[in-house]
Amino acid sequence: MLKDAKWIKAPCDIDDGCFIFSRDFTFDKKVEKATLYVTALGLYRAYLNGKELNLSLFTPGFTSYDKRIQYQEYDVTESIGKNNSLLIEAAEGWAVGNMTILPGKKHRYSDHIKVIYSLEITFSDGSRECINSGCETTVTTSNVISSSIYDGETVDMTAEIKPLGNAVPTEYETKLVPDEGERVSEHEVFYPSELIITPKGERVIDFGQNLAGYVEISVSGKRGDRITLSHAEILDPEGNFYTDNLRSAKAVNAYVLAGKDKEVFKPKYSWQGFRYIRLDEYPFEEVDLSCFKAVAVYSDIRRISDFSCGNEKINQLYRNIIWGQKGNFLDIPTDCPQRDERMGWTGDAQIFVRTAAINFDVERFFKKWLSDLAENQYEDGSVPLFVPDCRLAFPKEKVSSAWGDAATICPWEIFMAYGNKEILERQFDSMKKWVDYITKTTEKEFLWFGGKQMGDWLALDTEESKISNNPVSGRTPREFIASAFYAKSTEILVNSGKILGKDMSEYEALYKNIVKAFKETFMKDGFPVEDTQTAYAMALYFNLCDDKKKVAAELSRMVRANGNRLTTGFVGTPYLLHALSENGEAETAYDLLFQEGFPSWLYSVNRGATTMWEHWDGVKEDGTFWDKVMNSYNHYAYGAVGDWIFGAAAGIRSLPDGAGYKHIEIKPCTDKRMGYVKYTMETRMGKLSSHWYYDLEGNVHFEFEIPEKSTADIILPDGRNYSVNGGKYSFICK
Ligand code: BGC
Repeated sequence: MLKDAKWIKAPCDIDDGCFIFSRDFTFDKKVEKATLYVTALGLYRAYLNGKELNLSLFTPGFTSYDKRIQYQEYDVTESIGKNNSLLIEAAEGWAVGNMTILPGKKHRYSDHIKVIYSLEITFSDGSRECINSGCETTVTTSNVISSSIYDGETVDMTAEIKPLGNAVPTEYETKLVPDEGERVSEHEVFYPSELIITPKGERVIDFGQNLAGYVEISVSGKRGDRITLSHAEILDPEGNFYTDNLRSAKAVNAYVLAGKDKEVFKPKYSWQGFRYIRLDEYPFEEVDLSCFKAVAVYSDIRRISDFSCGNEKINQLYRNIIWGQKGNFLDIPTDCPQRDERMGWTGDAQIFVRTAAINFDVERFFKKWLSDLAENQYEDGSVPLFVPDCRLAFPKEKVSSAWGDAATICPWEIFMAYGNKEILERQFDSMKKWVDYITKTTEKEFLWFGGKQMGDWLALDTEESKISNNPVSGRTPREFIASAFYAKSTEILVNSGKILGKDMSEYEALYKNIVKAFKETFMKDGFPVEDTQTAYAMALYFNLCDDKKKVAAELSRMVRANGNRLTTGFVGTPYLLHALSENGEAETAYDLLFQEGFPSWLYSVNRGATTMWEHWDGVKEDGTFWDKVMNSYNHYAYGAVGDWIFGAAAGIRSLPDGAGYKHIEIKPCTDKRMGYVKYTMETRMGKLSSHWYYDLEGNVHFEFEIPEKSTADIILPDGRNYSVNGGKYSFICK
């Protein structure tokens, strides 16, 4: 299986271009079984005798290609005949094309598109044959004239397909591994909701939902007619098409028609993050909207839960969280799907992983990405800021807490969600290396001083964050955040090791020392030394303070003094509401959730958002936009509030002694403004649901369903508590 096959490349290069690698072969004997193994540096689609074989889009998927590349296996027994023609079309994709925030950075993993394949045939007489990639493969150009993840794709059906000669054998040192992730497919389809003629006179189609994917068009026109589509997430304050926030990503798809009756176009090796398209070139007088559809493309993660409540704006927020995930779970967890980035930022993934695992079954999805994280970990244990690391040799000062802690937090959350300790086994060494890295490199024992430290990314608690459009990191001291995460990661390491039956006494002692040093350094009179919401939320949520009620009361006071508004960034936001509601300040948590002014979750909802924004003020109060330098309208990080809605409002938590919802705590935090809350989840144990509602007298009715083989601790707001087995339960609290 690919053992004797050779990597091959085209005999020449075409910038951004695609190649078709072809091989014809005949058999005289009857074929019993035929299997094709194939992969590429680049993206490929394979065809046998005219039939497309791909089971997934964007194969071979995005991995740290220099360490490992997934290959795909296709059973082609049915398609094989006497005379056969195998075609593999390949584009630059992640490996060869423009990738990463560094502009013009091509060839992150390879200077050339390369493919490798092996067709294994067993004949009915028992004999076998293997057709391996090598110089017998011929190469031609393709109708896909150019394709780039960031810039889009050009397909010219009138282009002459030119023979380029025989493929050239080449080398690539890596591991070939079977598919590990989820397949990527087309999902929801959106039809145009409106054709807009903008003040500039642009013809713009609105699909009503910001998403990641592409527009499929079905047209009939003259040979040589051109259609060019630009993509945008938002219209500018004047109502014109706005693409500045895509930065250098062109996100343009162009098609030249063959002139047939009906032609269907969509990109094969590129996707866009968009809600609107602009018809830049369009050969027809009338715009027939029925020719256009927007197709959402993401990994085949299975939706496992659903939520609704009596407040329509919160319901829209929830939908935005779901779409934030759909738009960014395309083979790897990306930060955003539209600009010249779309990278696996470790911090973003760590922040959102719990919510992600509540919304969808993401075990397999994270298993793959975490393997790459471990592969990309440096010798000294440090974790890059994004994974796959695109071979950007990170300088050591680029290592950051909250980003690198994805190494411990992601596997732990996946374990807690699905109860399968395999992920802990697989990642244990990586987790340990990360904790050891901090221990070895810190400038202050038992704390983390040093490193790059992104801090509380995009927090709003500095003067600078109010006046400038620079991405800033808030006021919470970086050492505070880094040391708190050092404690968290060590705690997770200890708990994981114990689950795996390892002696963790050395790390237990380390954890105790970190907590002690943290309190001595960063706490004064029982409160965090820095009075930021993030510092308070972290001290509470990470169990780094003693009198939690007192600290939470002060945090609540701070929030109220700020007009019930948050000031937290990427790091503090996921913990803020938990820190309040878990320590007697649920009302303040709800006040933040229901806040509609800037900054808040409902602020973007009120401005028509259909996904989560990167900035609390992606659209400012005066209608202008955050600077184009970094302004995504599809960034899931702040969607991490989803785990508060599930874990506190519905009150569902999988307990560590029964991970995967074997042992559940149900402790709903009610609030009249919600009207009702209904959360249902298909856990690995069975159906779980928490439903509560207020009646006209103000009584709260609870209805819970616990999976048959699970146990649950039910804690009601009036203090009653019950330990129950699987089944249905209802209660009323007066
Ligand atoms: C990304 C973020 C990321 C950050 C860290 C941004 O460009 O979009 O989400 O975590 O950089 O530097």
